Amino acid sequence: MPHDEYLEADEVGASGMTVVAVGSVTSAQYCQNVDAEALFWLNALTSYRMSRKRRQVGIEDSSSWIFNRMADVYDARPPYPAALVDALYELATSAGPRVLDIGAGIGHLALPLARRGLQVVAVEPAKAMLECLQASAGSNGLSLQSIHAAAEALPLECESVDLALIADALHFVDAELAGAQLRRVLVPYGALAIITCEFTATPFMREIRKLVAQRSDRRPRPAAQAIRHVASLAQVRLAQEWTFRDETPVDRHTLLRILRSVSFIGPAFGQSRFAAFSQDVHAIREDAVWARTFRVYAGRRLGPNATRH
Ligand SMILES: C[S@@+](CC[C@H](N)C(=O)[O-])C[C@H]1O[C@@H](n2cnc3c(N)ncnc32)[C@H](O)[C@@H]1O
Repeated sequence: MPHDEYLEADEVGASGMTVVAVGSVTSAQYCQNVDAEALFWLNALTSYRMSRKRRQVGIEDSSSWIFNRMADVYDARPPYPAALVDALYELATSAGPRVLDIGAGIGHLALPLARRGLQVVAVEPAKAMLECLQASAGSNGLSLQSIHAAAEALPLECESVDLALIADALHFVDAELAGAQLRRVLVPYGALAIITCEFTATPFMREIRKLVAQRSDRRPRPAAQAIRHVASLAQVRLAQEWTFRDETPVDRHTLLRILRSVSFIGPAFGQSRFAAFSQDVHAIREDAVWARTFRVYAGRRLGPNATRH
């Protein structure tokens, strides 16, 4: 696969996995040989480079947004658990009906929330994903606003959002810029919910993880720091945390489409590596059940007179 640094940076786990570093220092072997302080600086440099790289990529440059390459398979992903959608709906009923879904994808959350009567604004930088979302909204007779934009530059009025969502997308976002944007667009006492998604450690998913690890040196990195960073910049005190699980039995065809939709598998592997990977996946003895654990971190923005969090 040709080296594509943005792709490296962008592959930061759609399910909780991330790169350790970009460029010539990605290998786990290298990392084992450096001491903790060096690793700290390496990670700091990596974050800086990833962040700088993202700032340089314009959303009009479709080829740089790998999610444009996944729009045709994203519908294979099972829906979010109904209880998670209920929890977000409850948040909106107390915060207000204007919901912003940042990195909305093809609308896995935006559409069910719009169906419940909320005034949803779906922001998505990958045009192909946004077009799928718009088509589904149209064919289901749902009314929502869809905007081609990124978290770092939201084309929205100040204090125009009651509830902002970032679902399975925080790891792609420049936390500093997105946090400042959230602080601008959220109303005082408005709500923020950050939703993370990871593979549940079932026997089947453990096998998938193992096969991914055999072909890639990427390692999981907790999202906690980015969550704290964004919330703090947005002046939101995250006070609630909920966990939801989903386990969906899938046939082979659907399983392969789901795997292609995972940024650090499908686009990262390329055709031949993915073909070999799929053969190994088919050889797994466990029943194919796609199992994910979602965590929702939610809280309210401070009032109008707050100066710091
Ligand atoms: C794993 S998908 C999740 C999509 C959707 N939120 C869901 O839960 O189904 C991540 C999404 O984040 C979007 N994304 C990537 N970088 C972004 C950015 N800087 N600002 C906003 N969204 C971004 C991608 O285009 C993609 O649609």
